[in-house]
Amino acid sequence: MPSLRQLFLSHVAQTSNLPMMLEVDHAKGIYIYDTAGKKYFDMNSGISVSSLGHCHPKVSAAIKGQVDKYAHTMVYGEHIQNPQVAYASLLSSHLHPSLDSLYYVMSGTEATEGAMKLAKRYTGRTEIIACANAYHGSTQGAESLRSDEDYKRAFYPLLPDVNHIEFNNKADLANITKRTACVILEPVQAEAGVLVPEDDYLIAVRKRCDETGTLMILDEIQTGFGRTGYLFAYQKYNVKPDILLVGKAMGGGMPIAGFISSQAIMSSFVSKPVLGHITTFGGHPVCCAAAEATLSTLLDDEIVSSVLEKEKLIKSLLVHPIIKEVRSSGLMMAVELTRRKYLKHVVGKCYEIGLIVDWFLFNNRSFRLAPPLIISSDEIKEACAIILEAMDFAQGQYK
Ligand SMILES: Cc1ncc(COP(=O)(O)O)c(C=O)c1O
Repeated sequence: MPSLRQLFLSHVAQTSNLPMMLEVDHAKGIYIYDTAGKKYFDMNSGISVSSLGHCHPKVSAAIKGQVDKYAHTMVYGEHIQNPQVAYASLLSSHLHPSLDSLYYVMSGTEATEGAMKLAKRYTGRTEIIACANAYHGSTQGAESLRSDEDYKRAFYPLLPDVNHIEFNNKADLANITKRTACVILEPVQAEAGVLVPEDDYLIAVRKRCDETGTLMILDEIQTGFGRTGYLFAYQKYNVKPDILLVGKAMGGGMPIAGFISSQAIMSSFVSKPVLGHITTFGGHPVCCAAAEATLSTLLDDEIVSSVLEKEKLIKSLLVHPIIKEVRSSGLMMAVELTRRKYLKHVVGKCYEIGLIVDWFLFNNRSFRLAPPLIISSDEIKEACAIILEAMDFAQGQYK
């Protein structure tokens, strides 16, 4: 009889030769438990998803309540479903008044696709500008936005008329012109290793977009729902996007995402011809119920407002000779090490002790810390002690 591990490797498609292989039994709060009963601190939140931790009782109750009423009645946008309407209304009440129309999809990459299509349709232009070392998803439109040729080469031809600028480089903004449909960027570059916008960079992007009639798309799929200490990072950095992308933490662990704009822009999908973007399961009622419970809990329990204190505490505890710097925006953090070779030892030792941290796609000197936003001060202290122990170990390998 093959083991679960063997069946996993044989029948669940892999994306690397080194999967983590944690055999999950259950998860609760900030912990994941394996089938041998070992407990892991989840300092990664499944890449910024489990902001309320695992199996939050209010989210679980909302899912169970909705699943017994109805799950699916019609493809997106036809029936009036209370969970969809309630969530879209609640979310828009916490956004800039011009971000009042939410198109529901199922994943971040689909939000990127929909937003690019919307920008092309609304402006009648074709050029799309993205930032180097950004990640917006893995479908072919989103993949076209990557700057790294190694990842893209096998998939050509991709979208034409995509050009890149460097994040935080104001001189590059001159490349945005009257033929640019949209500029898409993350307010804090996540996979580049948590690059925070310098000074008024995002405000300068906004200004250039206004000058050229270009739509500004902010991808808040990772930064959204309190991760940076504000409900959305655009609020922290004082800039208003024309289209906002959301996903990941939105559903409290359920698959739901969206792109949000004004009704005036969004209405471009309605005619000439109709059905500008369609999806079967976008805004699934069970996911919407989970999203509503997640957002209400994030706000009612003052979780978002606790994030900056927790960021400060982690930064005060993470002091070690092999740390070069800790970059952060709220609880989205990158710990950069003095030597690249330390990284695999730190990540590996943390895992051996029982704590999960993760790598970045485009930064091989830093590891990611993105704990659930509900993490307590005591849990932060325990987690940081484990990380420091792993750093002692890594340093010891090269003495
Ligand atoms: C900033 C950002 N945008 C888009 C995506 C794509 O989201 P999904 O994996 O849900 O398609 C990700 C995923 O990591 C992301 O970090």
